[in-house]
Amino acid sequence: MTDFGLIGHPVAHSMSKVMHEAAFRELGLEHTYGLFDVTSEELRLFMENSKFRGLNVTVPLKMEVVKYMDELSEDAAIIGSVNTIEFGNIRIGHNTDAAGFMRSLEEASVDLDAATAVVLGAGGAGRSIVFKLARCGVHVYVWNRDQKKAQALADDVLRKTDIRVEPVSQVSEVIRKSDILVNATCVGMVPDVNQTPVLSKYLHPALTVVDIVYNPAETRLLRQARDMGCRTVSGVGMLVHQGAEALRIWLDVEPPIDAMREAVLSNLGARGL
Ligand code: ATR
Repeated sequence: MTDFGLIGHPVAHSMSKVMHEAAFRELGLEHTYGLFDVTSEELRLFMENSKFRGLNVTVPLKMEVVKYMDELSEDAAIIGSVNTIEFGNIRIGHNTDAAGFMRSLEEASVDLDAATAVVLGAGGAGRSIVFKLARCGVHVYVWNRDQKKAQALADDVLRKTDIRVEPVSQVSEVIRKSDILVNATCVGMVPDVNQTPVLSKYLHPALTVVDIVYNPAETRLLRQARDMGCRTVSGVGMLVHQGAEALRIWLDVEPPIDAMREAVLSNLGARGL
């Protein structure tokens, strides 16, 4: 029987297995971690028959899986999305994407005090980030290719938290006024590594640029931002820290962050990026 795993579709290229296996090895634990390709149509049957200690959840199941939980953590309930399931007498849904994102900013010493941020993307990841930043007192602008989704997210944040985030249709103007730019879209991810969500002429050196894309570890956006003198935060940090938060929940251990990060980076490197 597999103790832990990831469900979603597709999952074959996920880094979660190598990352968690590295953590188990480092901690001297003999747990196993599997990748399970589960589509939306298969989710009900899978959840009815699954016996694990813990699961991670990825695209496209993070919102759909909520209805199979007995309880939700505060972040999962407010954000409406679950990426980590804790199995016990009851199933508790957590959202460690939000906490992982915040830890990756903390690690890079990003100051959120009175900060303004532009978040590109109102999908699953963008949603967690927008909610979390807004609840930390950051002034948030949100942009999405399909503008209706940015508006719907802003409406949802207002309804659940009484905090106003601003949907925008153009980003160049708001980037100028912002301290932090977050790419929460998949633009720039392999194989389309030459794509970037924002032209470099809109960046400025006072900006901290965060990309949630972790493959490649340095996207074109981050490379251009670094060339301009911006502080940059790679998506590898969020990936590692959301996994570390899951380990804290499942096993009540101090996660071996460095070993996890190294496993991810060497795996990305091994793919010739
Ligand atoms: P995730 O959990 O990684 O956020 P997702 O929920 O599928 O995955 O969201 C993907 C995000 O990337 C969405 O904001 C999507 O925009 P749409 O809502 O308009 O689809 C965004 N995205 C994907 N491809 C994009 C592209 N070529 N240009 C801009 N945004 C893109």
